[in-house]
Amino acid sequence: MLLDLLVLSLLSAILNKNKPADVPCTEPIAFFTKNKILRSLYDLILLFICSGAVISHQNCSYQALMNHLGLISNKDLFTLSRPVKNYSNPLKIEMRFEVKEILELKEVEQTFTSYIKFDLYWVNEFISWNESDFCGLETFLVPSEMLWKPDLHIIEIMEKDKSPRSPFLRILSSGNIKMNMDQVVHSSCRMQVYKLPFDTQTCNLTIKPFHLTVKEITLARTHREYKPLVMESAFEYVDLKIKEHYTSNRALQKQMITYTVILKRRSVLYVLNFILPVLVFFFLDYASFLLPDTGDKLSFKITILLAVTVLQLLLNDILPFAPKRIPLILVYCLGVVTLMMFSLLETIMIMFLLDRDEKSQKRGDNMEAEKKKENGKSVSGNFCSH
Ligand SMILES: *[C@@H]1O[C@H](CO)[C@@H](O)[C@H](O)[C@H]1NC(C)=O
Ligand SMILES: *[C@@H]1O[C@H](CO)[C@@H](O)[C@H](O)[C@H]1NC(C)=O
Ligand SMILES: *[C@@H]1O[C@H](CO)[C@@H](O)[C@H](O)[C@H]1NC(C)=O
Ligand SMILES: *[C@@H]1O[C@H](CO)[C@@H](O)[C@H](O)[C@H]1NC(C)=O
Repeated sequence: MLLDLLVLSLLSAILNKNKPADVPCTEPIAFFTKNKILRSLYDLILLFICSGAVISHQNCSYQALMNHLGLISNKDLFTLSRPVKNYSNPLKIEMRFEVKEILELKEVEQTFTSYIKFDLYWVNEFISWNESDFCGLETFLVPSEMLWKPDLHIIEIMEKDKSPRSPFLRILSSGNIKMNMDQVVHSSCRMQVYKLPFDTQTCNLTIKPFHLTVKEITLARTHREYKPLVMESAFEYVDLKIKEHYTSNRALQKQMITYTVILKRRSVLYVLNFILPVLVFFFLDYASFLLPDTGDKLSFKITILLAVTVLQLLLNDILPFAPKRIPLILVYCLGVVTLMMFSLLETIMIMFLLDRDEKSQKRGDNMEAEKKKENGKSVSGNFCSH
């Protein structure tokens, strides 16, 4: 083919050189005879090359293959139905599903974000060609609307992924079709925060067809699962469990595959940032009993109580709005605050009593002084009178 092109361009270059404008007018006849011969020679060669190309390379284009397969003339036949020759045979769909990255886990919204690699493979029984008939063409891409596709989806998905998807399907000469559904999955995940920060979370990703029943497709897993990359720093990966199960509806039973990602929280930071400070404030509060009972002690205690309350506000960012059971960490926090409240009340009580005591003592002193004064007066009076 390349050679043909080379010859063609060489010939046209020669012809262009001998254009009439370039030829001196003194030899018109000679030029014309020469040119005519050249042109007819050129035409002959052109015809030869072109017909040769048509004969030897007619099957090297994608169009030839599409025409052979009938992908264009019988377009609808390929999209309308399951690509099996006998409808009673279920179509085997091989799935490669990999949780590649765990991006985010939000306790408050109860969502799980992950990046998954998801490839589907099946055989279209109406597509096949002999590679040697088509210049050794083994595979090509078609727009994904051109062929039937299984209607698999992930049932936990809450939000449609906005990242671009591959618009193509790959077809192999044996009729094998590969479909790519890599995506970022925003899914729901019911999180258990009862034991926070020593909790383990399990998030499910369940693959299920919308309509296709077990009589129509069977799902099969290929490839082993790899350990995902955890981008969410608060958690570490523990395990991935896979379970194949079926819907309970007998007549239209569907196959499902559930991937359960198990993650464990890294609790060190929670302990250092929350549990320990609260405990320290608690002990400080009780240590303040050693202080003298003055107004300073009271303000010290109130400051500590406020500090604990501020720390407690941090929990708002972690805990879901209405958890099933009250998380232990909240109980711990409330317990500490309650104890501190009691100690504060006690201090207030003591100060009140001391104050009253002091006042009554003062009053007593005053009265005594007055008495003394009076006594003194009476004494002096007595003295006077004496
Ligand atoms: C279609 O498949 C069913 C079940 O596999 C089989 O019994 C039947 O003979 C097949 N029909 C044809 C025409 O091959
Ligand atoms: C493909 O064609 C070649 C020759 O055209 C033939 O030898 C070969 O057996 C064919 N292969 C298949 C799978 O039909
Ligand atoms: C081109 O493809 C057709 C089938 O569509 C086949 O019969 C023919 O032999 C092929 N020609 C060449 C040159 O490979
Ligand atoms: C996740 O899937 C497993 C297995 O099907 C199931 O037992 C579990 O209840 C599911 N968890 C959630 C939160 O849906």
